[in-house]
Amino acid sequence: MKKRVLTGIKPTGRVHLGNYLGMIRQVIDLQEKNEVFLMIANLHAQTVPYDPKELQELTYDLVTSLLALGIDPKKTSLFLQSDNPWHPYLSWILGCFTYVGELQRMHEFKEQSEKYKKEGVGSGILMYPVLMAADILLYNADLVPVGEDQRQHLELTREIARRFNSRFGKIFKIPEALISQETYKIMSLSNPLKKMSKSMPEGCLEIFAPEKEIEEKIMKAVTDSGREIRYDPENKPGISNLMIIYKYLTNKPLPEIEEEFRDISYADFKREVYKKFLEHFALARKKKSKLKKKEVLEILEKGKEKSIKASEEIIKKVIKVTGLKI
Ligand code: TRP
Repeated sequence: MKKRVLTGIKPTGRVHLGNYLGMIRQVIDLQEKNEVFLMIANLHAQTVPYDPKELQELTYDLVTSLLALGIDPKKTSLFLQSDNPWHPYLSWILGCFTYVGELQRMHEFKEQSEKYKKEGVGSGILMYPVLMAADILLYNADLVPVGEDQRQHLELTREIARRFNSRFGKIFKIPEALISQETYKIMSLSNPLKKMSKSMPEGCLEIFAPEKEIEEKIMKAVTDSGREIRYDPENKPGISNLMIIYKYLTNKPLPEIEEEFRDISYADFKREVYKKFLEHFALARKKKSKLKKKEVLEILEKGKEKSIKASEEIIKKVIKVTGLKI
């Protein structure tokens, strides 16, 4: 049966291989048989210190990257969170039914408030999961594809929905998190014990970066002592990570990759990973460079209309049951 899927991505960096193999690829598959809402979480991006020009630029970059990678605007409603004012509106109401203590217990709140202690911690960092709950509940979403790091926020969303329903009647659907169990966890090329992330730029493969940069990062990837191309994440985390990347780029199973690269040097293997990376993303890179601003703005305008239309039903009910309408 067709499900309603909603997820959000923050425009805080450029799309890298870890993002793509994690959630983005999953959404591209889901759009074939479901009703998908994909939101650029630009209001969430404002919860930590940021530069407005950069936010604008990263937002455009994220939208064009998603379209180039295969998000199809005919199937998926792609929109900016800030374009649907019901998000912060519902967030306010839900916030009134969320305990400060609950929010202070979130791992991400603890981490972020520690990280920005010097600059000052804006209350957006605390309210972050409430806005996320509003994003989801506003659409009656069945499924929410997220990374493992968002599991706790999803649990809180479910709790807020249950609490609201028990007080005001059955308004919200209780959403399910969709956390892929696949081993798509791509590690940093510079430190294969840590997840690939933009906080370690040397080890982070941005999909649309210049070829030279991608080549350099892959060729410099940390490997392990020994010379065998063998999948052994415990003893050979560097090579194993490159093998996982190769596996996803080629769809070949690991034993076949081991066979293919028997007696081949690390450097030659890396060159092959680089080659496959370029091959795999060649179409997307071309498509991204050809996208016109006008076309992109039209897609977002349609997404905005669809998102507002889809959220009206719930918001009307919320306004009524909470006593805002006389
Ligand atoms: N907080 C999410 C993340 O950092 C992004 C996000 C915002 C989101 N709103 C959402 C994800 C709603 C799923 C549903 O990954």
